[in-house]
Amino acid sequence: MNVEITFLPSGRSVLVRAGTTVLDASRKAGVPIRTRCDGKAACLMCKVTMPHTSSGLSPLNDNERRKLAGLERSGTRLACQTRVFGRAVVEVPEDPYRAAVRKQMMRQAEDDELW
Ligand code: FES
Repeated sequence: MNVEITFLPSGRSVLVRAGTTVLDASRKAGVPIRTRCDGKAACLMCKVTMPHTSSGLSPLNDNERRKLAGLERSGTRLACQTRVFGRAVVEVPEDPYRAAVRKQMMRQAEDDELW
């Protein structure tokens, strides 16, 4: 059975087989999620948030709960540990390096307007 998952803020959706991890679904959708451990729940770089109550996702497993240490209460999940079993929406935070570059470019554009 295929299920749909949507990634915000891009709004890209993809159909994946039920039980696919959010990380693998993001790769199929072409939505980059940072990772260093490639899905072994070691790097904690694949954090995503659930903007809505997403009943289509697997419950937290013990490993994920231990790693998140309370962050799950704010809707944070590890994309590599969370599986999709029904319609789901997840929000992918902006890459911090890309955000830094974007801010620097905005500052530069503001400075250019002054001259
Ligand atoms: S990919 Fe490293 S913790 Fe999820």
